[in-house]
Amino acid sequence: MIARLLAALLLTATLAADGRAAGALAMPDRFAADAAAAVMAGGGNAIDAAVAAAFTLAVTYPEAGNLGGGGFLLSVMDGEAAFLDFREVAPAAAEAAMYLDKNGSFRARDALVGGLASGVPGTVRGLAAAHARYGTRPWAGLLEPAIRLAREGFAVPADLAEAAAETREYLAGETNFARYFGDLEPGRFFRQPELAATLERIAQDPDDFYRGRSAGLLVAQQARSGGLITAADLAGYEARWRKPLTGSWRGYQVLTAPPPSSGGVALLQLLALREASEGLFLETPHNSARYVHLLAELEKRVFADRARYLADPDFAPVPTDALLDPVYLARRAGTITADAISPAEAVPPGLETPHTTHFSLVDPAGNAVSLTYTLNWDFGSGVVVEGAGFLLNNEMDDFSAAPGIPNEFGVVGGAANAIAPGKRMLSSMTPTILLHGDAPAIVLGTPGGSTIFTSVFQVLLNLVDAGLAPQAAVDAPRYHHQLPQARLIRHDQWPIPAETRRGLETLGYRVAPNDWGPLGDIQLVTAGPRGLAAAADRRGRGVARILAADVRLPTRKQ
Ligand code: DON
Repeated sequence: MIARLLAALLLTATLAADGRAAGALAMPDRFAADAAAAVMAGGGNAIDAAVAAAFTLAVTYPEAGNLGGGGFLLSVMDGEAAFLDFREVAPAAAEAAMYLDKNGSFRARDALVGGLASGVPGTVRGLAAAHARYGTRPWAGLLEPAIRLAREGFAVPADLAEAAAETREYLAGETNFARYFGDLEPGRFFRQPELAATLERIAQDPDDFYRGRSAGLLVAQQARSGGLITAADLAGYEARWRKPLTGSWRGYQVLTAPPPSSGGVALLQLLALREASEGLFLETPHNSARYVHLLAELEKRVFADRARYLADPDFAPVPTDALLDPVYLARRAGTITADAISPAEAVPPGLETPHTTHFSLVDPAGNAVSLTYTLNWDFGSGVVVEGAGFLLNNEMDDFSAAPGIPNEFGVVGGAANAIAPGKRMLSSMTPTILLHGDAPAIVLGTPGGSTIFTSVFQVLLNLVDAGLAPQAAVDAPRYHHQLPQARLIRHDQWPIPAETRRGLETLGYRVAPNDWGPLGDIQLVTAGPRGLAAAADRRGRGVARILAADVRLPTRKQ
């Protein structure tokens, strides 16, 4: 009991009474939390802490933390908002129909397992670019915790051992996964010497991953496992700074992910659709059957637009302004009824979704980082780069293999998200920061494939509209609805109230647990007049911490 009380106090701790600065973090595991906290305690800023955490997760959270994948980082540093896109790209030899057999059928396993499933990784370039722009602490030092954990090992958390066993079974010996992740037992020490050596090379020079020994090992592995990634693909990979997508909602300025993520457009559409359908929500209790039905109707409209219009903006024009036009969204909301499900065919696009991981942190100076990165599904393609000890992603499945063919998350796409050399596959990752005035007030994000932006959306409604405390807002049951099915509502693998289920079934929904895992692993930090609070999703192995108020403020690297 006392331990629980202490934990609750830790989760909701606030600024010291004398107003001294403190930082806060919500991390997917305790090793990353320790690494980030140590960096901030030593005077590093939010970006320094994020770099240390991201490399640590590549060691201790191999389901999703990575060197061989990609992601997005949203930050507010000294008041400057920035978004870094380090999403993987299709190799130069990729072709639109590369996953179709001669009869046009989708060879789904090739897009998920083995060498062909990988896009060109962006994580190392991304972290180096973020550090070059905003870091204040020497790069090599930030990799030290990760190198130590890889070299000396760490006690394997039970759910990591379980995830690795499931992946071994799923891969059925098709890749070299079992050679590297074959003896993960809960509590037993797990050492990764090849990965430690790779991290040491990256600590000396991040370009090693793209042009040095690590690059050579990666290309040799791709050749052995039938992949397409070449030395030229790696050398040519670029992380891109993009303008964060912005919107306003309930007095906050929302900063979120622009394309090639669909998540930010979808989140802003959902928040605006919710506002435009205020009348329908009157006297609708939070998370009642009617409430969940109304959210499902909003989500259905957003998924129709996603399938048609969202893609890598460097390859296909994305009509972001039109999709976020309040008049358009009000018209869309006008087609919703509170007591009937609109059939999927009635929701065409309107103008004419495991594993990934996320962390949120605020440093003592009030700078914020919201970072989501991924290998796509648990342990990515299942291929480990031999000699370098890291996993490669299976992000190619986020492209649309052919119009209308659902990917592993069940979402469809069309020409805009077709495979092309050098193109980024459409993502749902939605690292998000809400500003109040100029200051970060809510920092959040989550894994979950196509359920990412619907989870972020619901947690924002829980916090701001339903007025739940941060941990309660994260813990509340979550629901998800996407096309092409009109009637399927997925819910958390956590139990949902029987009354809500009955109400939804009476409306005609089929209500089923999400079959690819919990609905997200939200990591949330809030900052306000009453201080800092942090909440890690109890669905995962995350931890939330408020840092001691006496840490030194970061100074700028010259
Ligand atoms: O970028 C995306 O949208 C997906 N590759 C994310 C995958 C994911 O979240 C899996 N986690 N449960």
